[in-house]
Amino acid sequence: MIIKEAILSAQHITKAYPLPDGGKLLALNDVSVEVPRGKLTILKGRSGSGKTTLMNILCGLDQPTEGTVEMDGKEITEMADLDLTRLRRKDIGFVFQSVALIPIMTAAENVEYALRLASWQGDRQARVKECLEMVGLGKRMSHLPNEMSGGEQQRVAIARAIAHGPKLVFADEPTGELDTNTALQVVKIFKELNRTQGVTILMTTHDKGFMEIGDRVYSLENGVLQE
Ligand SMILES: Nc1ncnc2c1ncn2[C@@H]1O[C@H](COP(=O)(O)OP(=O)(O)OP(=O)(O)O)[C@@H](O)[C@H]1O
Ligand SMILES: [Mg+2]
Repeated sequence: MIIKEAILSAQHITKAYPLPDGGKLLALNDVSVEVPRGKLTILKGRSGSGKTTLMNILCGLDQPTEGTVEMDGKEITEMADLDLTRLRRKDIGFVFQSVALIPIMTAAENVEYALRLASWQGDRQARVKECLEMVGLGKRMSHLPNEMSGGEQQRVAIARAIAHGPKLVFADEPTGELDTNTALQVVKIFKELNRTQGVTILMTTHDKGFMEIGDRVYSLENGVLQE
């Protein structure tokens, strides 16, 4: 069933990786998902279940072997590379498991750098402050990454991902390196961003702890979606 308010819709996605022996590894097998607009969707599953493979296909970084992906009604599986790159730069934000902030830049400079890369027009300093305040780091603006906790660094990474005002944020295991409480804090920030910014968030996790917080939860097992 196609849900109208879905910002992202993937139908019958299959991904087969070629193996050196000539065989194939079926990483995704007929997976269909609908990501509701402005909500938090959680994709859970064990290591190797296909979460990253699916995320990369949903954001257009990788092509499926079979199936289609529509973002905002546009079929990205048919889009030219340049259009896709543009779409990613403007409408999408990314958060990763390993935070990857630039170590010689402060929290504020890291966020500002992302704005510059996205050619964001407007008062950058004000936007940086606003974004860091959104993730509760208004008092850490001038800290370097190694002067912040892991959870704080991940929150800077979230501020960086949303700074240019994307419609959609993809977060692959954003809580993978955090303890349970800090992880919960990050997920609550995602919910807050849903509410205040209207941004859609799709995150993966192998953690079973905070499933009830997701507005929608999908579960993958060996490349197959579970009911
Ligand atoms: N480029 C590739 N070539 C061949 N096989 C791959 C490739 N990338 C992933 N795989 C295989 O596809 C399956 C799914 O991998 P994927 O990275 O999507 O899992 P995951 O759920 O993200 O795991 P994790 O929780 O460890 O990040 C695994 O069996 C993996 O070995
Ligand atoms: Mg992964």
